[in-house]
Amino acid sequence: MSIRPQKPAPATPAPGKLPLTELAEMKRRSQPIAMVTAYDAPGGRLADQAGVDVVLVGDSAAMTVLGHDSTVPATMDEMLILTRAVTRGASRPLVVADMPFGTFQVSDEDAVRNAIRFVKEAGADAVKLEGAGPMLARVQGIVGAGIPVMGHLGLTPQSATMLGGFKAQGRTAEKARRLLADARALEAAGCFSLVLEAVPAPVAGRITHALSIPTIGIGAGADCDGQVLVWHDLLGLYEGRAARFVKRYAEVGQVVREALEAYVSDVREHRFPEERHTYAMPDEELALFEDSVLHERE
Ligand code: KIV
Repeated sequence: MSIRPQKPAPATPAPGKLPLTELAEMKRRSQPIAMVTAYDAPGGRLADQAGVDVVLVGDSAAMTVLGHDSTVPATMDEMLILTRAVTRGASRPLVVADMPFGTFQVSDEDAVRNAIRFVKEAGADAVKLEGAGPMLARVQGIVGAGIPVMGHLGLTPQSATMLGGFKAQGRTAEKARRLLADARALEAAGCFSLVLEAVPAPVAGRITHALSIPTIGIGAGADCDGQVLVWHDLLGLYEGRAARFVKRYAEVGQVVREALEAYVSDVREHRFPEERHTYAMPDEELALFEDSVLHERE
């Protein structure tokens, strides 16, 4: 009997899942891609119900849900838990896990191992990582392992100190050319898409035009192939100073605060719970119970 080497099974997306290739098709059709961050199952479900195409489990979670003042402290274990929760809630959108600082910078092996964990343990469809240069080999390694990679250029928050703070990037001709070269290199390395953060709109437009993979802008103007906003910014749940590119579509923080104040006041004033919030029991069982308690005292 001859043993033939097994061909790896092609990765088949779950039924109903947006095929990854559809993003490039959307770019070709000039159909904008809607991406949003989410960090839990209800967030993933709501984004799915709203028709979002891509859900990013951003390392912005370090700030928005874990209370840190930068994205740097996010750990692999925290990001795995949050990604797992989002993939339980979101069926159709592609779920992209953001590789946190320290999980891909050290070596290609580390990067591939951690990307595999996001897919195997958390059900992510793809990963995102920041930067170009030495990160190009990481992208090639991860893509080589069969995992789609989204790049991220411009303001890359994990290296904000090196960039001189949280400020727009590519604002000189030379820096804009560097961004374009990095974007091309990321496409050549195998990225399926590229986030451009805080980049002048004409530069992002030029990069978008130069690439065949879709660009997703955040503070990068209207000419990108898609847009992404952070959940807490979009919904008015974040109390820090908002960046220029944020548009708040709701004041959910205010709604939540008012609801909590009403609850506290109801509890203090004995208005909650009411009869309809409590459970009944048969009268005869209650009588037996009262009786047994009375006799216990004798
Ligand atoms: O972590 C994040 O939320 C991000 C987006 C801002 C693109 O990287």
